[in-house]
Amino acid sequence: MRVLGIETSCDDTGVAIYDDNTGLLANNLYSQILHADYGGVVPELAARDHIKEIIPLIKKSLQDAKLTSKDIDGIAYTAGPGLVSSLLIGANIACSLAFAWNVPAIAINHLEGHILTPLLEEKDNQPNFPFISLLISGSHTQLINVANLGQYYLLGESIDDAVGEAFDKTANLLGLDYPGGLKLSILAQRGIKDRFIFPRPMLKNGLDFSFSGLKTYVANFIRKQTNDEQTRADIACAFEKAISDILTIKCERAIKQTKINQLVISGGVSSNTTLRFYLKKMMIKCGGTLFCSRPEFCTDNGAMIAYVGLLRLKNGEKNYSLSVNVQPRWAVTDLLPININN
Ligand code: KG4
Ligand code: ZN
Repeated sequence: MRVLGIETSCDDTGVAIYDDNTGLLANNLYSQILHADYGGVVPELAARDHIKEIIPLIKKSLQDAKLTSKDIDGIAYTAGPGLVSSLLIGANIACSLAFAWNVPAIAINHLEGHILTPLLEEKDNQPNFPFISLLISGSHTQLINVANLGQYYLLGESIDDAVGEAFDKTANLLGLDYPGGLKLSILAQRGIKDRFIFPRPMLKNGLDFSFSGLKTYVANFIRKQTNDEQTRADIACAFEKAISDILTIKCERAIKQTKINQLVISGGVSSNTTLRFYLKKMMIKCGGTLFCSRPEFCTDNGAMIAYVGLLRLKNGEKNYSLSVNVQPRWAVTDLLPININN
């Protein structure tokens, strides 16, 4: 079975083709840059850009895979959570193509895509079930017990800002363009460790997170500092260390509470190298293993949607009507279990 996956939940247009036997045949991404001028994603502009980019990306993916539309057995699309105007573009294209090509369409939860990205890696780099997932992106921060395919139990989440949002807003205050997470991380490499120490909120107990207080603290702190290059780098370094400490301590607590010693990190922020360093150190100390995906699978992508689409189509699920449904809010804990061997 071959599935075309379409991802348009926010400002990345992703298209991929996944084959049951041979794996990923094509994976194309267009990341919108126009939002840098506005300091964040403008939904109307994001939707217009998806419309421009999506058909060329689908054509390119078929070409890359040396396939035609006749070789596609199903179309998976991100139906939520995300920006409704962006979701509707991918959903409309997916359902229209499915109708024209006479194949099933399937609505996929974006968070499930992120959670299962390590299963796109080589077999010996994949976790077994159950594992703990730390999903850290521009709009989500969740710790999830992944009992099996489709069986997700929320352990904790951010009660305010997502960690990626905190990175992007702090980066903006440091004069870096949106999305600033990676740029902040690069700036932090030139920082003097421990020159500044920022607070780590909500550390004492529980598995929930809070980042808005840290963000406000850093905003006030920046105002009182000189704007020289070294100070900016030192602030970036202190911010990244505070975030890494918070996430590492919560993950260690989740590992100890659940006695599940495999940790998977996914979502855009999971490509942060400082965070990976501290999580890996903690997992070695706990006698467990950290699983990370390659950067193109950390960020939003069509591959994860095509892969989950394949699993769910094999599970017997599909869209039964011609109506196009998207769910801007859609908890990953509401999904049906998948009863197949992947
Ligand atoms: O998963 P993703 O591509 O999109 C969402 O579903 O939100 O995540 C995007 C987020 C942005 O906030 C971006 O700044 C952040 O991931 N990000 C990083 C890094 N690379 C991307 N944050 C920190 N360090 C990085 N290396
Ligand atoms: Zn995402």
